[in-house]
Amino acid sequence: MEKITLGPMPYMSVMPTLLVGANVKGKPNYMTAAWATVACMAPPMVCVAINKARYTAKGIEENKTFSLNVPSAKRVVETDHCGLVSGAHEDKSGVFRSFYGKLKTAPLAEECPVNIECTLFKSVDCGSHHLYIGNIIEIHVDKACVTDGKPDITKINPIIYAQTSYFNVGKQIDKAFSAGKRYKKK
Ligand SMILES: Cc1cc2nc3c(=O)[nH]c(=O)nc-3n(C[C@H](O)[C@H](O)[C@H](O)COP(=O)(O)O)c2cc1C
Repeated sequence: MEKITLGPMPYMSVMPTLLVGANVKGKPNYMTAAWATVACMAPPMVCVAINKARYTAKGIEENKTFSLNVPSAKRVVETDHCGLVSGAHEDKSGVFRSFYGKLKTAPLAEECPVNIECTLFKSVDCGSHHLYIGNIIEIHVDKACVTDGKPDITKINPIIYAQTSYFNVGKQIDKAFSAGKRYKKK
């Protein structure tokens, strides 16, 4: 297969669209983030890469807590707004209604069907960005988005980020940890 080369650049085929919540100077602030994923199973951890200039970074450094909130597709305008405007210039505390769970300094966005509360485990200085790794303390899921006790992606309807655009989740194509059993040696 013929390939082209792109050189080193921050690329990943698809990414989630999340809102990182942090209290800055006692007020909730939400910023859009796509550079985030699971970091560890035991203990359960997530991580997110945040540019050092972000207002959100101040809150994470201040409280050592943050949240990851999963917006659904119907909140795409509010979500993108939080990625266009900095809390340093405009108060974003009213974009979403905030509530608090176990951590009293990690604001959670009510309108997002999934909210993940984190304490800061470690921050890694990577250059322009800090990679914030968080211990998951609690996960809140809207009852309406649960099937058989588990978060249901078809009900959550999360926003996928790729190629500077937002996408819906497509159709299920197979079962993970199962499709590979049909592999036949070449
Ligand atoms: C789709 C999208 C994804 C983004 N992902 C990230 C990210 O992963 N890390 C980051 O530092 N900034 C990211 N940004 C930029 C911040 O969300 C943006 O600079 C925001 O205004 C920062 O808000 P704050 O200064 O209130 O923290 C993203 C923006 C958009 C629109």
